[in-house]
Amino acid sequence: MLVPLAHAQNLGETIQECPGTLTGSTQPQQIHLQMTDDASVMNVIWATEGRSTGEVEWNGQTSPSTDYCYNHDMAFHMASMTGLTPGEEVTYRVGSGGDWSEEFSFTPIDSSAEHFEWISIGDHGDSSEAMDVSDGIISDSAAQMVTISGDISYADGEQSAWDDWFNYQQDSMTSIPWVTAVGNHENEPGYGFVPYEHRFDSDGQIESEIFWYSRDVPGVHMVFMSTEHDYEPGSTQYAWLEQDLSSVNRDVTPFVIVYGHKPMYSSNSYHGSEVELRDALEELYVAKGVDLVIAGHDHFYERTWPVSAETVQDEGKGERFARGIAPIHLVIGMAGRSAYEELDEPQPEWSAYRENSTYGWTRMVYDGDVREISFTHYRIDGTIGDEFILQEAPLGSGSDDGFLGVPGFGASLPILAMFGAAIRRLR
Ligand SMILES: [Fe+2]
Ligand SMILES: [Fe+2]
Repeated sequence: MLVPLAHAQNLGETIQECPGTLTGSTQPQQIHLQMTDDASVMNVIWATEGRSTGEVEWNGQTSPSTDYCYNHDMAFHMASMTGLTPGEEVTYRVGSGGDWSEEFSFTPIDSSAEHFEWISIGDHGDSSEAMDVSDGIISDSAAQMVTISGDISYADGEQSAWDDWFNYQQDSMTSIPWVTAVGNHENEPGYGFVPYEHRFDSDGQIESEIFWYSRDVPGVHMVFMSTEHDYEPGSTQYAWLEQDLSSVNRDVTPFVIVYGHKPMYSSNSYHGSEVELRDALEELYVAKGVDLVIAGHDHFYERTWPVSAETVQDEGKGERFARGIAPIHLVIGMAGRSAYEELDEPQPEWSAYRENSTYGWTRMVYDGDVREISFTHYRIDGTIGDEFILQEAPLGSGSDDGFLGVPGFGASLPILAMFGAAIRRLR
């Protein structure tokens, strides 16, 4: 939620005013939605070359922006759209210094919906492959959200790289929220995390602590954590993770996915498994029933079996897995930056599938009727690299068996009910 400037300053955060030397165009650019933890409130952030005040106009209402700068020659603006109804489309535009953007629209996520589709990427950047991934996302009109498991623009101190990155994604970021975890490349030489903070959440106005937070979407409690800050037991982040993972209502969100940057499990030779991370957090994730951990950092794709302490806990049935046994870990750091091709040999037992010279994104579909998530890993050439399904029901007791040998038939309750009715009629 947008809190008054005075409040932000009380938190020890100072919003830097923009210098009078910023006299360029006040045409809004780099416009992007920022999802809050309240479905009735959506924030929007944009940038202008010139210093100005701004506002957002939506559904016949207007709200002023907070305007601020950091050590880069652009002015930033963040404003809140409030009183929104989940599931109902909102049309909006943003303005600064009398210049307005075109109109955009988005639909606030209704966490009680029975269907949700989203895309996850990691290690993006601005290569031609990264742009192919972006184009795939932008053209995906059914996706309702994008997550990034860190290493976002690879600006690495060159702030105009962020400007270009946001402008390239604007077509998607103005209509669906992109929700991010920080990677090591968000900790920039000479800037630290300041650019990330200012471009995704002006000084902690959306989150009191923007490096770890959670969001509920249909079927899934999503945790965004930082592998780039202290996560050891006893740390603030660990305490937060423990509290957040303990508070999940599985009736509402049967699945828990943790997004972070460095992987607990990776058989890529470039970085490999982040063992300190595994030592610090794996036990907690297993104890709290985390279903999936989605990381990046190693620029390849890998999926583990449900695993704990490097020991495979389950091998599922075909491409189907039941939640509640142990987390499956994905490394999806191949959204464009580069490909780390050298793999550890032999392939560790916990590694179920890996792919080391392709680029792409992972797409998830939650189906509330059968309470399962389908995962598909798409390559930029349009082929599919990996597919699996995570279901709430134990294997052997539900949709996985099929019915009368028809896969998925047992899950189809309306059909089953018709079948039951037919049997009753026959009696
Ligand atoms: Fe990376
Ligand atoms: Fe990284």
